[in-house]
Amino acid sequence: MSGVQIPAVPIVKFIYEVGFKKIVTRIITIASGKGGVGKTTVTVNLSHALYKLNKDVTIIDANLTSPNIYLHMNIPITPTTLHDAMKGKISIKEAVYLHYLGVKVIPASISLRDLKFKEKKNLTNLIVDLIGTSDFILIDAPPGLNEDTIDALDAGNELLVVTNPELPATVEALRVIEFTRRNWAKNINVILNRYSGKSWELRPKHIESFLEAPIISIIPEDENVKKAIVKRIPVVEAYPESKAASAFMKLAEKLLGIRRVKVRKESAISRILRFLGLAR
Ligand SMILES: Nc1ncnc2c1ncn2[C@@H]1O[C@H](COP(=O)(O)OP(=O)(O)O)[C@@H](O)[C@H]1O
Ligand SMILES: [Mg+2]
Repeated sequence: MSGVQIPAVPIVKFIYEVGFKKIVTRIITIASGKGGVGKTTVTVNLSHALYKLNKDVTIIDANLTSPNIYLHMNIPITPTTLHDAMKGKISIKEAVYLHYLGVKVIPASISLRDLKFKEKKNLTNLIVDLIGTSDFILIDAPPGLNEDTIDALDAGNELLVVTNPELPATVEALRVIEFTRRNWAKNINVILNRYSGKSWELRPKHIESFLEAPIISIIPEDENVKKAIVKRIPVVEAYPESKAASAFMKLAEKLLGIRRVKVRKESAISRILRFLGLAR
């Protein structure tokens, strides 16, 4: 964009600077009703999957009371955090940490002292400064529907709700989806995590009809996810051949609207017949 003259008329300048940037940055909140269903796992792995597809990604640990991203990605205690930006001590850009694998991270503080706020800036307002700095901003929200979650839901323009194939997680997911529907018109999709198809698990079709929202991705129950967390490396990097990694890559491709080339499986004989024009 260098060399382009931005008109001095304020409204045109605003549309150019904010409106245009909004088009190029997708802000996706990753939320859930119940805790422990896999929000952080999804945020971390989806960000790396998008990065592998050449996208510039920033992730925000918006779980202010129980931040977890640093554990999944082996991030050291950083001198600046989201808490500092919310306290108005720094701009949010100053809290960006460039991870060695390429994804940018805005970590939250793990210090108990930082939990007290005299004044708290909204993530929604802070995030404006990040628009245009990457292709995707992924927000790892706290569970449930507390004040911090609502701020995280407000800040995104797309929502991915993570659930497990169990009743409590799915019922709680509905509350988040309904709340979002009532307050904002957002693109809402569901991620079914830890699915293994066991007889006692809820079926994807039932979950979709109950939530009235499409399941965009099914991430299987996969022990490689746990092994990767022990290594503190995202599973898409640590075990790229695993089923979970492949599901995360597919999810990233889906978000980008990339269609996989379907490899037709057919026997040699039918291929020969087709080649000879004797079959279709
Ligand atoms: N697809 C999966 N397969 C196996 N275990 C998983 C999977 N996804 C998550 N887990 C396990 O669930 C735990 C909680 O996941 P996490 O992403 O921290 O949840 P949340 O952020 O929603 O609290 C992880 O530490 C991991 O052990
Ligand atoms: Mg988490």
